[in-house]
Amino acid sequence: MGGHSKIESVLKEERIFYPPQKGRDEAYISSKYEYQEIYKYSLEDPDGFWSERAKELITWFRYWDRTCYWDFHKPEIRWFEGGKLNACYNCLDRHLEGPNRNKAAIIWQGEPDDEVRVYTYQMLHREVSRFANVLKKLGVKKGDRVSLYLPMIPELPIVMLACARIGAIHSVVFGGFSAEALKTRIQDCEAKILITVDGYWRAGRKVEAKKNADEALKDCPTVEKCIVVRRLGNEVNWVEGRDLWYHELINDPEISDECPCEEMDAEDILFILYTSGSTGKPKGVFHTTGGYLVYVAHTLQWVFDLKPEDIFWCTADIGWITGHSYIVYGPLALGATEIMYEGVPTYPHPGRFWELVQKFKVTLFYTAPTVIRALMRAGDEWPHKYDLSSLRILGTVGEPINPEAWLWYHKHVGRSRCPIVDTWWQTETGGFLISPLPYAIPQKPGSATFPLPGVEPVILRDDGTEADVNEGGHLCMKRAWPGMLRGVWGNPERFKEVYFSRFPGLYYTGDGARRDEDGYIWIIGRLDDVINVSGHRLGTMELESALVAHPAVAEAAVIGVPHEVKGETIYAFVILREGYQPSEELANDLRQHVRKLIGPIATPEFIQFVPGLPKTRSGKIMRRILRKIATGQYEDLGDTSTLADPSVVEELIRTRKEME
Ligand code: PRX
Repeated sequence: MGGHSKIESVLKEERIFYPPQKGRDEAYISSKYEYQEIYKYSLEDPDGFWSERAKELITWFRYWDRTCYWDFHKPEIRWFEGGKLNACYNCLDRHLEGPNRNKAAIIWQGEPDDEVRVYTYQMLHREVSRFANVLKKLGVKKGDRVSLYLPMIPELPIVMLACARIGAIHSVVFGGFSAEALKTRIQDCEAKILITVDGYWRAGRKVEAKKNADEALKDCPTVEKCIVVRRLGNEVNWVEGRDLWYHELINDPEISDECPCEEMDAEDILFILYTSGSTGKPKGVFHTTGGYLVYVAHTLQWVFDLKPEDIFWCTADIGWITGHSYIVYGPLALGATEIMYEGVPTYPHPGRFWELVQKFKVTLFYTAPTVIRALMRAGDEWPHKYDLSSLRILGTVGEPINPEAWLWYHKHVGRSRCPIVDTWWQTETGGFLISPLPYAIPQKPGSATFPLPGVEPVILRDDGTEADVNEGGHLCMKRAWPGMLRGVWGNPERFKEVYFSRFPGLYYTGDGARRDEDGYIWIIGRLDDVINVSGHRLGTMELESALVAHPAVAEAAVIGVPHEVKGETIYAFVILREGYQPSEELANDLRQHVRKLIGPIATPEFIQFVPGLPKTRSGKIMRRILRKIATGQYEDLGDTSTLADPSVVEELIRTRKEME
């Protein structure tokens, strides 16, 4: 949206939904007053607040010497310095004493309905310990990187926890990414091992993941071994000496069930996760052990009011931060029972999610606005075919939820009984920063409401002064919280530049927001060149580089345009090289090309071939004009006098009209 444009929010929603009485007395935080008191305390005495939470929620081998130290100018952030712990120990071992030993930790539902696997804490502990020993036997040591390219099968959390157990750093690459995207991520973190799968189910189709892994590994000299989980039993290419079967390794009689947990420093890296930004290639955001674990356990407990008897289901893919924090580390650290689902929301029918809520008596359900909109379109009758009376709290994440989808979710899924927690956060934040507490905060549909304890947001104008009530601005954070990122792998300059230089001394989120007259925060969306497609972040630069890598393309500019289900969809303006003619065939070829380089989520829906792009005299593309053209608002282009060549606009309009 550039430096000087006004940040506007179109969301206007007046209704207020009060927390239910039922469940309130037993809730962790049960009134707005209580929230306000805790919030105040957390800002006045952060050391006291966070020390208490860290001791209450996490088992430490040794307590810390200093609770927190941070300086956003340097930037440097450290939490629980000198503290020793192990994330896997906290997620598994400590639950084995007492009644939780035989409690279901993960109830895994495969895409085919008859495929269900239940792991108790004890079973999970055994499998994780064995796999940790396998990794050790293969020479993996503390600090080594292990890349994972796995679908939603139990082996994914098992391998992550095995890494955490021995102090190896995991880097999960979303299964929907292409071979090329996998390759660059493995190369960037110099992984020693890759763990993948032969193939898996996706909406009734077989996806042969090993093929992508093979393709990626052609160019990854650091990878010594490729471990393959057998899921489908499809035929796979096999590289002798490099490839190993997961089941053969873990069933080896020489492998022991016992594997001591590595004693990790609170600031030792737990994992790297790649995410898109506005410039350059994806960034390897990394999180450290102590602060991250405290933060995910703390936020999950309070925001979902998670109790021992709850059945929690987060529908995200573990390949994204939501799955890391709220399928793997958060629920397991709290000793919860959770559902993990391999399939998609609309297969074999749009009632699949509700069918599973009924089947497993899910109490806490967490999904994304894009899913809600897709299921809403399928018709109100679907949720009403099932008994959803077990549900207690609903959650949403990934993009601003439009009030219409919020109200549908509330009425047809929550049956007007369940509070909705609209959780705002990012890969970088590790866990929720802004969200209602379900039994304390009255909800306004479309607002993420208030900052959680210890979180101090500020909304700024372009010039760094504070925005007025209801005035949109840049959402920043004034102070550190335990779960925040500690860096960008191999690139400290980028860490500083992206997050701490726009407004020195503050953490910059890249999102726009406004605060209304009641203090409610409304997230507007990304202000940088990041597109949010179905809750997935894609950088325009990445997409443009992918397009330009095609022999027919001279130049490309990519924007996001509103989409009813996905939130935003990709719209590309393409200038062809000499000798190439625009055609539908070529457009399809470009789509395939981008899919291959990044993955299906990055496929441009619209491709407009143009002779030129609207640029300023200094060569900067004016995306504001492209957005207007793409959405057919030709009369409303604003000031075009700064364009190097104003005649470009006519050509843009002409070629746009030709697409209709
Ligand atoms: O723009 C915000 C949007 O998603 C971005 C973060 O994306 P990612 O790092 O992939 O993490 C997604 C899951 C945490 C944010 O900068 N976003 C996330 N949650 C919300 C949201 N926008 C509005 N409301 C939300 N609840």
